[in-house]
Amino acid sequence: MAKQVFAAERYFPTKADPALFENINRVKDPANKSPLEKTHAPFITAPRKVKAGEPFPVEVSVGENVHPMGPTHWIEFIELNIGNEPAGRVDFQSNGYLNPKATFTVVLKKESAAGGKITLIAHQRCNLHGYWESSLDIDVA
Ligand SMILES: [Fe+2]
Repeated sequence: MAKQVFAAERYFPTKADPALFENINRVKDPANKSPLEKTHAPFITAPRKVKAGEPFPVEVSVGENVHPMGPTHWIEFIELNIGNEPAGRVDFQSNGYLNPKATFTVVLKKESAAGGKITLIAHQRCNLHGYWESSLDIDVA
């Protein structure tokens, strides 16, 4: 007889830490990341200086050490905000076909970068370890 998997076990595993679901999780000390932070904080790769109107790639990986993907523990989505404005989101299934990485092609308007700077903000959600945020400031000429 095939092993039965009960919905409660599958979707609400006992290993989930409720404290990680109370707030947005962020790296506390960038020079000294914990193993959980290295695997869960979105890792943003983007040029540090861009020109308004010219497309450039922003890669968001979860995390610095790529997070596992499988039926009991996976990354549900990655989001990218430009400043406070949501720009896009990629959803993942738990079947493990995809690594938790996404590349967005971004074009900034000069007027969206007050003072010649803008903050890229990435989020991800892990089914066991909550919602995480990282950011990167870039210069816009
Ligand atoms: Fe996780």
